[in-house]
Amino acid sequence: MKIRKAVVTAAGWGTRFLPATKAQPKEMLPLVDKPMIQYVIEEAVASGIKHIIIVTAIGKRAIEDHFDRSFELEHIVEKKGDGELLRKLQNISELADICYIRQKEQLGLGHAILVTKELIGDEPFAVFLPDDIIQARVPAMKQMIEVYNRYQNSVIAVEPVAKKDTKAYGIIKPKQVEDRVYQVMSLVEKPEPKDAPSNLAIVGRYLLTPEIFGMLEKTAPGKGGEIQLTDGLRLLLEKQPIYAYQFEGIRYDTGMPLGFLKASVEFALNRPDIGAKFRDYLRQLKLND
Ligand code: UTP
Repeated sequence: MKIRKAVVTAAGWGTRFLPATKAQPKEMLPLVDKPMIQYVIEEAVASGIKHIIIVTAIGKRAIEDHFDRSFELEHIVEKKGDGELLRKLQNISELADICYIRQKEQLGLGHAILVTKELIGDEPFAVFLPDDIIQARVPAMKQMIEVYNRYQNSVIAVEPVAKKDTKAYGIIKPKQVEDRVYQVMSLVEKPEPKDAPSNLAIVGRYLLTPEIFGMLEKTAPGKGGEIQLTDGLRLLLEKQPIYAYQFEGIRYDTGMPLGFLKASVEFALNRPDIGAKFRDYLRQLKLND
C-alpha cells in the first residue's frame, strides 16, 4: 500500500530548549533562516507524501501561521519588488496539504501519534520528529519507503551511536537481512551501555502500519506518565515483524542547543549566499583563539 500520509509531532514542551521555548514552539526555531519544521515537511514532500498531519498543542499557533498565506506580507514584499522572496513565501503555503490536530495533554510521543488515529485510518503512514533533521542526498524518508515497499511492514530509522550514548535512545536488537536493513528482534528503551543489545539507536523517522494504534491504546503510561512509542512498538512486534533501516545521511539532534548549533553552523557553511563569508569569519575566530 502506498504511503500517502505523514504525522509530524510538534506538541511537546521543548524543555531542553528553555527559556527559548517558553513562549514559542521549538519546531519554529530556524536553522539559518528556515524553521526546523519546514525542513521535515519538505523532506515528506520530497519523499512523495502530500498529506500531512501536524500534532500541535497550546502555544503552537505560530506553526499554523507559518504554513498559511500572509497576503499582507506578500503585498509588502511585492511592493518592494523582491520577486524571489515572494515566490519563496508563497511556496511555503503551497508545499503540502496540511491539517492540524491538538494533543490536549502532552502525554508523550506515543500519545501524540495516537491522537491522529481517525485522520490516518487504516493505512500505513510516516512519522517525522521535527527535532531530528536529516541531511541526505536521497531524503531519508524516501529511502525508508523503498525498504517498506520490499517488506510491507513497519520500518524504523536507526543510526549507530557511541556505546556510551545508548542510554539516551531506544536501542534495537538487530538481525541483519541486507545491507543497512535489519529485522528488529527486540527493542530496549534507554539501556545502560552494558545492557544494550547493539549500538543501533532509533531516531525520529518511522513508517508504521495502522496496527500501531491498537497497540498504543493498550500501552500503559511509562516513564513520567508518558505513553512511549517504543512500548507500543514492542507490542506490535509480538504481532508482526518490524524492520530497521540505517539511512544514508547525517542526522542532527536539533532538540537541544548543542545539536542545534552544529546543524546551524554546517547549514550556514553550505549556503551559497553566505557560506564563504561565514567560513572566513570562523577562520578568523580560530586565529584569535
Ligand atoms: P521530544 O521529547 O524530543 O520533545 O519529543 P519535547 O518533549 O518537546 O522536548 P523536551 O524533551 O521537553 O526537551 C520528540 C517530538 O515529539 C513531540 C515533540 O514536539 C517533538 O517534536 N511530542 C513529544 C509531542 O508531540 N507530544 C508529546 O507529548 C511529546
